[in-house]
Amino acid sequence: MPELVSPKPKPPPPASPLLPLRVEGLCYEQGRQRLLDGIDATVEHPGCTVILGPNGAGKTLLLRLLHGLLVPSAGRILWASGPQSEALRRRQAIVFQRPVLLRRSAAANIDYVLRARGFPRAKRPGRIADLLALAGLDDRAARPARVLSGGEQQRLALVRALALEPDVLFLDEPTASLDPASTLAIERLIRLAQGRGVKSFLVTHDIGQARRLADEVLFLHHGRLDEQAAAKPFFKAPGSSRARAYLDGRLVL
Ligand SMILES: Nc1ncnc2c1ncn2[C@@H]1O[C@H](COP(=O)(O)OP(=O)(O)OP(=O)(O)O)[C@@H](O)[C@H]1O
Ligand SMILES: [Mg+2]
Repeated sequence: MPELVSPKPKPPPPASPLLPLRVEGLCYEQGRQRLLDGIDATVEHPGCTVILGPNGAGKTLLLRLLHGLLVPSAGRILWASGPQSEALRRRQAIVFQRPVLLRRSAAANIDYVLRARGFPRAKRPGRIADLLALAGLDDRAARPARVLSGGEQQRLALVRALALEPDVLFLDEPTASLDPASTLAIERLIRLAQGRGVKSFLVTHDIGQARRLADEVLFLHHGRLDEQAAAKPFFKAPGSSRARAYLDGRLVL
């Protein structure tokens, strides 16, 4: 008789020192336009928080505000230890849709951030080699970063972000123009980072990816937080009709 094997539950990610994150009445305005409007949320899950919503919903703005690249017009962002600060920002990293790489080799791109943060000189070559191997770029170390393919550049940008072992990783559509294999390679790196205790915030329009990675979902619409839910119930039956329409691929008005 075949042995009955119950599926192995996913081990919970390690606790994150910057959580819980509390967002209170967060607003962001440009001129007379209120682009983010009164966002209240508490993020406690140490895994992956996926931010979903139609184009123009405010996802990128929210990510930039959380990382302290923009200053709120009103409201507060409170990490476990307090409001965003330079010291906290140094424990966070961000990866954009289009990788921003320096005009130098792949290895030198990583070396640059390690040096900037005072990583010991003698340990840098080993660390760079490990990170390039993690990204599957061992044989591209000396190649100018800007001639790498889109997928290779994004993998480089991601391991460069991980080089300093951040507590929080923000990812804004990191696989938007990548092929399925490169997409899965990036997802593998995100999972690996999570296993090491990195809290991630991921913006994506790839619903399959959101299903694969999300532990919880924030659904934005017109600058407001329409729904916050654990991933499983959200993908099974989202509470808001707009989230339902978005998941069904219908126009969200
Ligand atoms: N600096 C700015 N000045 C004026 N409007 C802005 C500015 N930055 C963003 N916006 C507007 O704010 C809204 C939200 O922008 P945001 O980039 O956050 O959207 P998004 O949800 O990331 O969309 P997408 O899925 O297309 O990336 C959009 O309507 C955008 O045009
Ligand atoms: Mg965006």
